[in-house]
Amino acid sequence: MTTSALQDQLFADVAGYSLSALGKIAIDREDDPALTYGECTPETVEQILSLTGAGEGDVLCDLGSGTGKLVIYAAFLAPLKKSVGIELLPELHDAAQMVARRYRKEIQPQLTDARRDTQLECRLGDLFDADISDATIVVSHCCTCFNDTMMQRLSDKLETCKPGTRIVTVTRPLNSSAFEPLSVAACEMGWGQATLNVYRRR
Ligand SMILES: C[S@@+](CC[C@H](N)C(=O)[O-])C[C@H]1O[C@@H](n2cnc3c(N)ncnc32)[C@H](O)[C@@H]1O
Repeated sequence: MTTSALQDQLFADVAGYSLSALGKIAIDREDDPALTYGECTPETVEQILSLTGAGEGDVLCDLGSGTGKLVIYAAFLAPLKKSVGIELLPELHDAAQMVARRYRKEIQPQLTDARRDTQLECRLGDLFDADISDATIVVSHCCTCFNDTMMQRLSDKLETCKPGTRIVTVTRPLNSSAFEPLSVAACEMGWGQATLNVYRRR
C-alpha cells in the first residue's frame, strides 16, 4: 500500500481545517496565530524520518498533532516503537483517535514487519504541559506561526528532552546552544513550501 492510498483510506472524510476552526471558536481563540492549522504531506514525513535516522526503538512525538497525519504516516513509514501526538483542541484530538482506531483495525494487521507492533498514542492537552521525556524524535510543525515568546517557551520545553533526542522544527529555527544543528532542508507541506530545521539535544 502506498502512503497516498493510506491517506485516502484513513483521512478522506476527516476535515481538519473545519474541526480546527470549530475548536478555536469553542475556546474563543479563533484569532490566535499560535493555533494556526496546517497539514503535513506523506513525502515530508518520509523526509523527516530520513533526516532524523528514525528506526526501530524510536519514540516519535508530534507536538500539536492535529488529526494525526504525521503520527500515522510516521508509524506506517518507519518501524517505530511508538508514535505519539499531542493536540490541544478536543475536536482534532477526537478525529485523531478515530483515525488511529481505523489504522489499528484496517492497516496494522496487514503489515508483516516491526510496524505491526508500533504503538499509537493520541494525547489531548497542551504541549507545554506534556511529559515528552520518553521521546527520541520530537517534531514541531505547530511552531510555524509562533512568535518569539512562544519560540522561547518551545525551546525551554525541548530542553526537557533527553540527550540525543532528534528534534525537528518546521519554519522557525531554535536559538539555543542546548541543541546541536544537524541539517536544514526545504520541504512541501499541505499549505506550501517550508523549512525543516533538524537538531540533536546535547
Ligand atoms: C500546523 S498544525 C500541524 C498538524 C500536524 N502536526 C500535521 O503536521 O499535520 C499545528 C497543530 O498544533 C496544535 N497546537 C498549537 N498549539 C498547541 C499547544 N500548545 N498544545 C497542543 N497543540 C497545539 C494546533 O491546534 C494544530 O492542530
